[in-house]
Amino acid sequence: MERGELIEVTIRSITRETQDIMSYELGPNRPEQSLPPFTAGAHIDLHLPNGMVRSYSLSNSQADRDRYVVTVARDAASRGGSIFMHEKLGVGDTFPISTPRNNFALDESAQSTLLIGGGIGVTPLWCMAQRLTDLGRPWSMIYCARTRQHAALLEPLRKLAEKAGVSVRLHFDAEQGGRVLDIAGAVAEAAPDTHIYCCGPKPMLEGFEKAAASRPPQQIHVEYFSAKQAPAITGGFTVVLQRSSKEVFVAPGKSILDAVLALGIDVPYSCTEGTCGECETRVTAGIPDHRDSCLTRAQQALNTKMMICVSGSKSEKLVLDL
Ligand code: FES
Repeated sequence: MERGELIEVTIRSITRETQDIMSYELGPNRPEQSLPPFTAGAHIDLHLPNGMVRSYSLSNSQADRDRYVVTVARDAASRGGSIFMHEKLGVGDTFPISTPRNNFALDESAQSTLLIGGGIGVTPLWCMAQRLTDLGRPWSMIYCARTRQHAALLEPLRKLAEKAGVSVRLHFDAEQGGRVLDIAGAVAEAAPDTHIYCCGPKPMLEGFEKAAASRPPQQIHVEYFSAKQAPAITGGFTVVLQRSSKEVFVAPGKSILDAVLALGIDVPYSCTEGTCGECETRVTAGIPDHRDSCLTRAQQALNTKMMICVSGSKSEKLVLDL
């Protein structure tokens, strides 16, 4: 895997947030080193000692200069990253991480901001809430979880909301007869100029996008943790690699990323699910078949960049800036 620019970090502390959620505070290996600044909504890739690479949102304040915090839910259905972190990692362990990348940026000029989080999806929103409070901007939050015991960061959130003089609405399915949040109702109640951010499980995000479909797209912000849709597996097509002066046929069922790597060309990538944005590539001709979940609909419509790990081609030929 192309590793790009990596930073060696050490786990400074681990905090148990709930039975299944832990926060890991990461600092540079050498005290004289600093960490690159980040903005609310950013994520980093952890290159774990077991060889896995996993993306997690940063949950601490962007005002912090010398630490990153990732808050990780133990997910039994995961491919093993979160379980490894919970069971094998301890204070003092070191590993490389990527520099922060933000596909879920906060619009700091919004007059009104609503943050809707489901489960561990609260982590980037918690980071945003801290930033908005620092800026003196109004915000509100709806935070959903299966039960109160499954909800991380409740007490810090309560304190922050008190300091900011804003409201956090809590919705615990178990306390509502098993009913999930009426997300369409929540979106409908927001003022028309509100910027709404949603992060949580896939069904919640799909419900949110449906409920917000008639709102201005620039006010709707979504972050998926897992693949939004199946990768493009349509018939084969040709990719021209402009800078390398090479051409490759991408067979049905194969990704452009696979084809490019097979040519021995180093390109950055991480999640291979279209969620992290690491493999973003400029398109100079042709029409991509976008399958990622990090470009906005407006960005996809421009057809000037694409995620080559999951997206394919609607045209017979694609020309890429590679
Ligand atoms: S590798 Fe993450 S979006 Fe392509």
